[in-house]
Amino acid sequence: MRRWHCRPAFGMGYSVQAQKGRKRIVAEMGNLKVTMTDVNGDTKVIENVDEGVSLMELAKANGVDGIFGDCGGGCACATCHVYVGEQWMAQVGQPDDIEFAMLDMVADVMRDNSRLGCQIKMKPELDGIEVTVAPASAY
Ligand code: FES
Repeated sequence: MRRWHCRPAFGMGYSVQAQKGRKRIVAEMGNLKVTMTDVNGDTKVIENVDEGVSLMELAKANGVDGIFGDCGGGCACATCHVYVGEQWMAQVGQPDDIEFAMLDMVADVMRDNSRLGCQIKMKPELDGIEVTVAPASAY
């Protein structure tokens, strides 16, 4: 009996059901775009972003300097502080009371367009959003 010694090419060796599953995964890949400028002024355009992913998660996954996300997205550290592009503020909206209280912990670098990246989840209305990582607070 012959055995496979290497991984079969796409489709070969997979059941019809498994092939359908693979096609569905490809079809569900995100198609949103985010432009992030890190604390050093370097800009990255990140494409194929999934709906529902937070800007903090996205920054960490793409090595954007200055985003740490120390609390894992729990709105409890402010190490994901970003400045939202002014033209995007209407779509993003203002922080709620809890997020605002956390931003107050970094008041020395807070601006009117400050938000926590972990609290901004990607959605079609935010396709193309531009954010800049805020500098570290002196507090
Ligand atoms: S990751 Fe901690 S507040 Fe956003």
